[in-house]
Amino acid sequence: MSDQLSTRHLLGIADLTTEDIELIFRTADGFKEVLSRPIKKVPSLRDITIANLFFENSTRTRVSFELAEKRLSADIVNFSSSSSSVKKGETLIDTVNNILAMKVDMIVMRHPDPGAALFLSRHVDACIVNAGDGTHEHPTQALLDAYSIREKLGKVKGVKVAIVGDILHSRVALSNVHCLKKLGAEVMLCGPTTLMPRHAAALGVRVEHDLDKALRWCDVANMLRIQMERQGGDGIANFPSLREYAMLFGLDRARYERIARDIVIMHPGPINRGVEVTTDVADHANSIILDQVQNGVAVRMAVLYLLAAGIPRDHSGA
Ligand code: NCD
Repeated sequence: MSDQLSTRHLLGIADLTTEDIELIFRTADGFKEVLSRPIKKVPSLRDITIANLFFENSTRTRVSFELAEKRLSADIVNFSSSSSSVKKGETLIDTVNNILAMKVDMIVMRHPDPGAALFLSRHVDACIVNAGDGTHEHPTQALLDAYSIREKLGKVKGVKVAIVGDILHSRVALSNVHCLKKLGAEVMLCGPTTLMPRHAAALGVRVEHDLDKALRWCDVANMLRIQMERQGGDGIANFPSLREYAMLFGLDRARYERIARDIVIMHPGPINRGVEVTTDVADHANSIILDQVQNGVAVRMAVLYLLAAGIPRDHSGA
């Protein structure tokens, strides 16, 4: 069993091996224990400086990374595009190189463009963690999702997971497909044809357009948010109305009870209550939505800790 990741950056789940994912989970188990202590802090990254660069809106991912970094005792700087020189026309490489000149070791970046994290990793000398790049990948979300399934059901291998909703615009969907498949889960993508990538089946997953059929099949339903901000116009360019979407692809109590089985309910947040899931389903005993948020901190601590092991560090005290 290796105690090192096979990669220097976390750009996407596609680059990780199954062993990498299992190592992240084992490490997260240890950090979960730390987070249950009265003093939720370890000194592991006290010689590491991390810059959180958020070029796109975020609440939970930003707060989750920030907490993970603080609990590992890293020094951190936060930067969001609304208050930065990016608005003055500076390029991404210039922005980041200026930050690195101040001796930053790791960059956690969210960016609206797919491939932005990969691009940065090729042009600047720092460890890059992708916190979401457009519609491409959101690797730490997929890791915390699979970790939460493992915690709830005791395993991921063989578990049937239906990922439901706006698959076309979702980075969470793609990262989840990669992660779950690497761990041996069976994956189904379910959503309207207009929100399904044309070549979805080529990912080695089942494709379904009937939510009731998907729910009858699965052990876990991961209900994704409609990415209105990526659809142009009024945000619902790919389907007639939110009301119709909720009727066909939303999970409400009556639909949940018709399954007559305990399936696990997930949602990466933020939830449009009443659209993807109703309040009574989001707050149901089988919903692990808040466990996902809680596990996010431990999983991100594990990712940062393991990546930091690959950064040359001077422990001589000189
Ligand atoms: C996800 C994202 O930003 O891609 N949210 C998150 O990270 N908590 C999912 C979403 O926005 O729907």
